[in-house]
Amino acid sequence: MDAIQALKTRRSCRHFSEKQITKEELDTIIECGLNAPSGSNKQGPKIIVVQDPDKVAMLSRLNAQVWGQDTDPFYGAPTVCLIVVPKDPGYDGTPKYALNPVKDGSLVIGAMQTAAFAIGIGSCWINRCKEMLDLPEGQAILKELGLEDHEGVGCCILGYPTREPKPKAIKEGRVLTY
Ligand SMILES: Cc1cc2nc3c(=O)[nH]c(=O)nc-3n(C[C@H](O)[C@H](O)[C@H](O)COP(=O)(O)O)c2cc1C
Repeated sequence: MDAIQALKTRRSCRHFSEKQITKEELDTIIECGLNAPSGSNKQGPKIIVVQDPDKVAMLSRLNAQVWGQDTDPFYGAPTVCLIVVPKDPGYDGTPKYALNPVKDGSLVIGAMQTAAFAIGIGSCWINRCKEMLDLPEGQAILKELGLEDHEGVGCCILGYPTREPKPKAIKEGRVLTY
């Protein structure tokens, strides 16, 4: 699928096969995420790929705990990517870069989701990434990876979709001319 078609028709996916996506598919999605624009080309966001079922289950429990729900927030997706960025106030502590890391991280997830859709992989942004990584268990993960000065932006779940995406109604009145 070409880029325009993917951008025009992309939908989030919440129904996944248990089968893991291939390394080639994952690498393509990650490459597209890493090529997202970033303020001053800082390329600050990092992608933590989690495919070990026990670790995915542990992260699901942490996310559900933050959410206060007794359900799997990852909808059974076999791959969970945590997109993390250097902590505010930015890349060098000056107001110049304040908030850019979170914006940069969002673009990475957007690029990953569009790339995933284009190659037939389902994806969804899952919230509460910062909150779950702020928990002691999350901090331990970041420490193990040498990322204790980072915080979560969002989780990007990936897997083979088991349902066809439906077209979405785009709200009217969102484009103005000045
Ligand atoms: C910042 C952000 C947070 C989101 N958090 C969640 C979430 O926690 N769980 C979920 O199922 N979907 C989540 N989504 C997906 C949105 O619900 C979805 O993008 C929206 O309903 C539009 O549907 P579409 O992506 O299929 O166009 C999130 C999306 C964004 C951009």
